[in-house]
Amino acid sequence: MTPGIVTAAYIVSTILFILALGGLSNQETARRGNAYGIAGMILALIATLTGIVTDNHEIVLVALVIGGLVGLLAARKVQMTQMPELVAILHSLVGAAAVLVGYANFMDHGLVISGAAKTIHDIETYLGVLIGAVTFSGSVIAFGKLSGRIGGKPMIFPGRHIFNLGLLLGAIVLGKMFVEQSAAGSGLEALIIMTVIALVFGVHMVMAIGGADMPVVVSMLNSYSGWAAAATGFMLNNDLLIVTGALVGSSGAILSYIMCRAMNRKFFAVIAGGFGTSGGTTVAEAEQGEVIPILAADTAELLLNAREVMIIPGYGMAVAQAQHTVFEITKALRDKGVNVRFGIHPVAGRMPGHMNVLLAEAKVPYDIVFEMDEINEDFPDIDVSVVIGANDIVNPAALEVPDSPIAGMPVLEVWHGKTTVVLKRSMATGYAGVQNPLFFKDNTRMLFGDAKETLDEVLSNLR
Ligand code: TAP
Repeated sequence: MTPGIVTAAYIVSTILFILALGGLSNQETARRGNAYGIAGMILALIATLTGIVTDNHEIVLVALVIGGLVGLLAARKVQMTQMPELVAILHSLVGAAAVLVGYANFMDHGLVISGAAKTIHDIETYLGVLIGAVTFSGSVIAFGKLSGRIGGKPMIFPGRHIFNLGLLLGAIVLGKMFVEQSAAGSGLEALIIMTVIALVFGVHMVMAIGGADMPVVVSMLNSYSGWAAAATGFMLNNDLLIVTGALVGSSGAILSYIMCRAMNRKFFAVIAGGFGTSGGTTVAEAEQGEVIPILAADTAELLLNAREVMIIPGYGMAVAQAQHTVFEITKALRDKGVNVRFGIHPVAGRMPGHMNVLLAEAKVPYDIVFEMDEINEDFPDIDVSVVIGANDIVNPAALEVPDSPIAGMPVLEVWHGKTTVVLKRSMATGYAGVQNPLFFKDNTRMLFGDAKETLDEVLSNLR
């Protein structure tokens, strides 16, 4: 491919990536968005391989086959509930790539530039390695936390803000040293020390996140991985990588902002760590009482006598893979004239849009699926709320217990409805590790068991 054709292919890829992002913002167009993304990436790879890579095609092709196979196997094997940890580990690969490319680029003595151009190139290299290293180590820890390999409790030590500030100052000083030394032909030591600092910062930042604040961190690491890729694009002088990185970086930043708003958190406070560290659990547990169990047959009876039903899906629905039964129940109730709606919390499940994806997969009509803000006022008119494997997102402690790890997070206020049926297997806590006073309220009924099994029983009693 000639440089002109490569540029044209890159422009088409950029347009396809923008269309992909546009498509992914809505459930109805998400599949199309995905197809645009895949087409854009294939075109970008072909253009880069045939137009930019001038030799060593064999090595690149072997790497492509190995990487492609690993990706294919991982995507086939991974369960829907493991998607967030897969995404986290993929972000770590972007970070690692930025670090490695940065080092390779720095040590490539074939590059002859000098003066201001060299200084700018060195700054790009330094920033690429810095962001890449933070992304890498932060994402590995996020992977550990999301997959349960590392405990969810935040690791907080006194003076952590001073420590973080020290790391930041150290990175700035080393950056100045690196640029100066690089002009004189050295600078590798400064780059290595900064890389270690950035790796430590990534670990420390994510280890300090607790409670229910992981969604913000995951989307923030998503954003970082984009900026790391953009910095790599500057290093390599590759326009498409710059644009793609900027698209990922800015969409991740917007997602982080949306997540922060949904959780009622301040972005910088989450990054600095320390949320979800107070002893709210004991306060919530102190007000425990008796729970009132209910059987599947009685739940079916309640639903048949209701006019307004609100279904609140949570992580447990994903674990039980109960979405298809939920759809069948919805259909059966709607056929009998019951108005069924779904209330979706922005951080329900373990990744943004998790519940929407499952409901769409089960063919639940989009027009009865509502965001939390759209329906939270409606609960006083709801006859029966069915909470399926959700816990933190319906926990009144978020509003009532000021020192709770989830304090301030808006939740679906189901308890204002007439009756709430909660489906879960035990009295275990959810992701944030906080007991839920909802379960002990007079108008709450607990339907214990695996959500798929209990819902199958409810369904057979509806027919
Ligand atoms: P959780 O608070 O984690 O509660 C899920 C509940 O499902 C658990 O209490 C569990 O109780 C129950 N469960 C598990 N398997 C089940 C099964 N097979 N059948 C029935 N119930 C089952 O989930 P949530 O309410 O969806 O809240 C999400 C939490 O994850 C929030 O704290 C959020 O911050 C965090 N988080 C979210 C994201 C994103 S982006 N969505 C990312 C990371 C973390 P039993 O064990 O008793 O059954």
